Amino acid sequence: MIPKDRYDVCVIGGGGHVGLPLSIAFADKGKNTVIFDINASVLEMINGGMMPFLEKGADEVLRRVIGKTLTTSLVPSVIREAKFVVVVIGTPVDEHLNPAFGALKQFFDEIVPYLHDEQILILRSTLFPGITEKVQRIIKRNKPGVEVCFCPERILEGKSMDELSNLPQIVSGFSADSVKAVIDLFSLLTKDIIVTTPLEAELALISLLNN
Ligand SMILES: NC(=O)c1ccc[n+]([C@@H]2O[C@H](COP(=O)([O-])OP(=O)(O)OC[C@H]3O[C@@H](n4cnc5c(N)ncnc54)[C@H](O)[C@@H]3O)[C@@H](O)[C@H]2O)c1
Repeated sequence: MIPKDRYDVCVIGGGGHVGLPLSIAFADKGKNTVIFDINASVLEMINGGMMPFLEKGADEVLRRVIGKTLTTSLVPSVIREAKFVVVVIGTPVDEHLNPAFGALKQFFDEIVPYLHDEQILILRSTLFPGITEKVQRIIKRNKPGVEVCFCPERILEGKSMDELSNLPQIVSGFSADSVKAVIDLFSLLTKDIIVTTPLEAELALISLLNN
């Protein structure tokens, strides 16, 4: 039996510069949020109400939500227990700093066993054009009911708590239902939402990174 929806959101890599502000922001909006991260010392700090890095305005909100709507876990099985699974691990690169799809594929192969068919997997790491579709193929092969969306992060470190609500959010996906569900989720943070295809979102991100 699959333990479902104990959490609204599971953020994989939620101890990092992008994942933690996002997790705190969802938790502060009342969403039951669990951070899954492999860095035990970072999770210990978060559980103690301390930000592991400087992020303006985040400490106070973290202390307000931790142990209430925000929890953490070192155990990947928590992935099963959330409706939305957000991936914000760092983008793997090779020795020439080119994107290393092999490492990304290995990561998704590892999390597939913890996914179930009613979930929406939201990719938020920086991805290169075509990667969202490749990830969707890997996931669908094993868990056909899981929907994959790409909602790129665009914040500047240190300013996340402001920018999460002041920058438009890009939402993209392959099915109308999953896009609608993700719009509803991100609408908690901002009403300014731009819907694109996954490829358009990937290209938009690359052009922002190049400017
Ligand atoms: N930092 C920024 O300002 C920024 C802005 C926009 C986009 N991004 C993108 O966001 C993504 C994340 O960047 P970041 O700066 O938050 O990285 P980060 O290194 O600060 O955080 C990544 C987190 O993922 C965790 N992690 C790694 N592998 C894991 C695994 N297999 N399972 C669970 N947790 C795992 C790490 O322990 C770490 O806490 C990257 O793709 C980056 O390009 C970053």
